[in-house]
Amino acid sequence: MFIAHEQDYLKRYSEEDEKGRYFWDTFARPGLKHPIVYDIVAPDGTVINNGWIHSKERFEQEYKDGEVRVTKKLNGEWSVQFKQRLNEKGKKPRSMTMDFGGTSESKKELGELFDNEKIFSYPKSAYFIKALLETCTNDGDIIFDFFSGSATTAHAVMQLNAEDGGNRRFICVQLPELCDEKSEAYKAGYKNICEIGKERIRRAGAKIKAENQLTAPNLDTGFRAFKLDTSNLKAWDTSPIREKDPAAAAKILLDRLRAHIDILNPDRSDLDVTFEVMLKFGQDLCEAVTPLNINGKTVYGVCANVKFIVCLAPDVSAEDAEEMAKYAPGRIVFADSCFDNTEQKTNVKLILRDKGITIKAL
Ligand SMILES: C[S@@+](CC[C@H](N)C(=O)[O-])C[C@H]1O[C@@H](n2cnc3c(N)ncnc32)[C@H](O)[C@@H]1O
Repeated sequence: MFIAHEQDYLKRYSEEDEKGRYFWDTFARPGLKHPIVYDIVAPDGTVINNGWIHSKERFEQEYKDGEVRVTKKLNGEWSVQFKQRLNEKGKKPRSMTMDFGGTSESKKELGELFDNEKIFSYPKSAYFIKALLETCTNDGDIIFDFFSGSATTAHAVMQLNAEDGGNRRFICVQLPELCDEKSEAYKAGYKNICEIGKERIRRAGAKIKAENQLTAPNLDTGFRAFKLDTSNLKAWDTSPIREKDPAAAAKILLDRLRAHIDILNPDRSDLDVTFEVMLKFGQDLCEAVTPLNINGKTVYGVCANVKFIVCLAPDVSAEDAEEMAKYAPGRIVFADSCFDNTEQKTNVKLILRDKGITIKAL
């Protein structure tokens, strides 16, 4: 776990050899709790006794390797020094609370993005979160923030990706907590905290992209926002039918069956269903979802190579099946409402099966 060296710190490492940058540091460590005390004989035979940083055996090896030198200072005294080498990976953070600016830094960041430092009351600093991520994440990691607030974590992830060329991703989870009507956020038009977070990601993404056009031209600052909700598929009413009268009981059951002819909840969009199918198929929710025009009907191709298609369009014909097959998906997901009758469904199924495409019912 390393964080980047400050430029000032790097200035000390003014020397360089085939092993990298270094500076000559004193070999003496008399102040150590357990100094290693022994004699070192200078080239003129002078005996130098002190507490040293490394053992006698290691000194002798390093002296042979040119990692340690014994030189005469201007005042005529002998000095023993070793090559203090630069850790090219960076430095170990001594504490994660050091010089990250705290709330003033985080408010300044929000001020730069929203022209209003009070848009969110208790943000963390993206600079601080970025330093944390630098110490413990790798390229391609997914960073999960379950209490994301103003989405500082997303900002920090994009900033770090811009700096080190990483492809980290973020998942920010935030309750749609309402903004107080007297708050700066509400006055600025944000009804709940999720809206602040989304807008911050947009603005921070645009700012980071603009600032890193040359160094990170392909920086991905895109994101998708999802709302947690019940399934798009109607839940089957499992409550027991306690009706004693068989006719009445049968009617209840029939009503339940009728309500399930179309299993999709009416207030949901085709995209809602497509993302639910992606979840069920274990598909990454960041994959491409492309609306495909199939003889005037819209279906959704998932993944850049159209790994599968979600079709919720009514009255799907054999021609439609032929058209969808041209995208060579592995499978096509249909709702029963796509077909007016079993014959139509079987027809489509057989056409697709002959092309090696499986059909899945929602
Ligand atoms: C301290 S703030 C996080 C601030 C954030 N780190 C930032 O820099 O903006 C905690 C956030 O967690 C949210 N929160 C609280 N309980 C939650 C829950 N059960 N699920 C999701 N978010 C929640 C609150 O609405 C609040 O916005």
